[in-house]
Amino acid sequence: MMSSRKFFVGGNWKMNGDKKSVGELITSLNRAKVPPNTEVVCAPPSIYLDFVCQKLDQKICVAAQNCYKVAKGAFTGEISPAMIKDCGATWVILGHSERRYVFGESDELIGQKVAHALAEGLGVIACIGEKLDEREAGITEKVVFDQTKAIADNLKDWSKVVLAYEPIWAIGTGKIATPQQAQEVHEKLQSWLKTHVSEPVSRAIRIVYGGSVTGANCKELASQADVDGFLVGGASLKPEFLDIIQAKK
Ligand code: PGA
Repeated sequence: MMSSRKFFVGGNWKMNGDKKSVGELITSLNRAKVPPNTEVVCAPPSIYLDFVCQKLDQKICVAAQNCYKVAKGAFTGEISPAMIKDCGATWVILGHSERRYVFGESDELIGQKVAHALAEGLGVIACIGEKLDEREAGITEKVVFDQTKAIADNLKDWSKVVLAYEPIWAIGTGKIATPQQAQEVHEKLQSWLKTHVSEPVSRAIRIVYGGSVTGANCKELASQADVDGFLVGGASLKPEFLDIIQAKK
């Protein structure tokens, strides 16, 4: 059966770019064709959110790469979902492995951020994924289920959540999960959601894959039954991102 889930392609620019290159990226994205069955969301560094929201064609949505768990206050260096929305962005990436492991964000904090961002009306790209030693120890499932549970415990409405499975050993390494490895985890996540959340949520939610996705490998990954899209890092800054947008055409 064809999936009714709209294919989702996110571009996570991470801490890259300057006004000039961001401007060029916008120009090329504005020329891109977005297939009707695909949703595209780009996540610039927060300092360029306003600029990107003003210049980027509306066929592509904008995400922040992170936010804090409350609306405002004495939290130096943080941004809130209210500010993200004020700039015109509609999504936020939360729980990215770089936030978890470079900046020490806990499952608990990520859960609270997800709850607040959704309460404020943002869509959330919630990231999970195992480290290499965890995969080698055979605990991939346990790790991704625990991370998903920490998110699930904080929400009732899943309609604006995209779950991004990003095995950490595949991020920025050029070492991609095989389509079978991605499919296997996506399928398990779906059945975990069926058991622990609900059948309709497990059928409706998009589970996207991230980690060394390129123009060359995207089509085969996209052909897997439960790969509903991608979260793309490095390749989202390159012309091949336009091919990745077409992966499911
Ligand atoms: P990558 O990053 O595509 O550069 O591996 C993916 C991500 O971190 O979302």
